[in-house]
Amino acid sequence: MDLTVNLAPHHKMELRLRNPIMTASGTFSNGIEMSRHHDVEALGAIVSKGTTLRPRRGNDTPRTVETPAGMINSIGFQNIGIGALVREIAPIWARWSVPAIVNIMGETLQEYGTLAQRLEGVEGVAGIEVNISCPNVAAGGLEFGQDPRQAAAVVREVAAHSSLPMLVKLTPSVSDIRPIAVAVAEAGAQALTVSNTIPAIAIDVKKRRPVLANVFGGLSGPAVKPVTLRNVYLAAGVVDIPIIASGGAMSGTDVVEFVMAGATAVQIGTASFLDPAAPWRILDEFTRWCEAEGVASVEEIRGVARRRD
Ligand SMILES: Cc1cc2nc3c(=O)[nH]c(=O)nc-3n(C[C@H](O)[C@H](O)[C@H](O)COP(=O)(O)O)c2cc1C
Repeated sequence: MDLTVNLAPHHKMELRLRNPIMTASGTFSNGIEMSRHHDVEALGAIVSKGTTLRPRRGNDTPRTVETPAGMINSIGFQNIGIGALVREIAPIWARWSVPAIVNIMGETLQEYGTLAQRLEGVEGVAGIEVNISCPNVAAGGLEFGQDPRQAAAVVREVAAHSSLPMLVKLTPSVSDIRPIAVAVAEAGAQALTVSNTIPAIAIDVKKRRPVLANVFGGLSGPAVKPVTLRNVYLAAGVVDIPIIASGGAMSGTDVVEFVMAGATAVQIGTASFLDPAAPWRILDEFTRWCEAEGVASVEEIRGVARRRD
């Protein structure tokens, strides 16, 4: 059985994964802690915590809350900053065979370019995942990822400063993900990550106020799976580049569903909060499903659930 997938088939560096199971940004730190307990190199790829130009403390606590079918988080991009990531983390990744992808988030268009530039030629970094779910004040407070032109501008800015394969992580907070997917693909992205958390809130009735210090957060986990599936399905209908599903995968069967909707790879996020070994369990379940069904490759089932009319 061949579970390998390529997230950048048309890029000179390619981005080959030994299997389609990836970690989701912000749910796996930078992989160092987990590598002490599990075989990180057995996964398809790992994705770093969202990394900004300068280190960030993140939002005040509480910043996570469990919901009936998932969780809401408002971590606020707590991270060590691009400088420390390049100095301290990348050299460790360089010793691993698993591709490490750096998730970046800029506060301005220029910051995205600077972040990409800082990763140029850094050993241990196999690709960039560009999170375009950040509010862009210059454009009137809309998220970069909610406007096709703004989204395309970010992609071009990163491409102008980087020779690495680029994944672009879209927001589900749009009425139709397709125009954004097309704009981002045409601007030069190698793959799309579909998608990020869904804006949400939880209220504490005893305290008579929102649970999260930041009031709002992003919903993830099983609750968002059908939404993610739809967005993967829609995006797969309009672009030819690989799609990485992110949102609600808890089992090997969930992975099968995402692949059948058109995904090439699947990220595991919230599942790791329930069980830190979730990425490996899900990989095992997916592999067994393929074996039991006589499926010899991911490509064989990719998009099979899509209408062909
Ligand atoms: C605690 C937490 C922190 C996250 N941090 C980031 C981040 O820094 N950058 C990013 O692009 N996505 C971030 N995400 C979103 C996840 O990468 C993922 O896209 C989302 O949670 C949906 O997948 P899931 O349902 O499997 O968790 C975060 C999610 C959680 C739960």
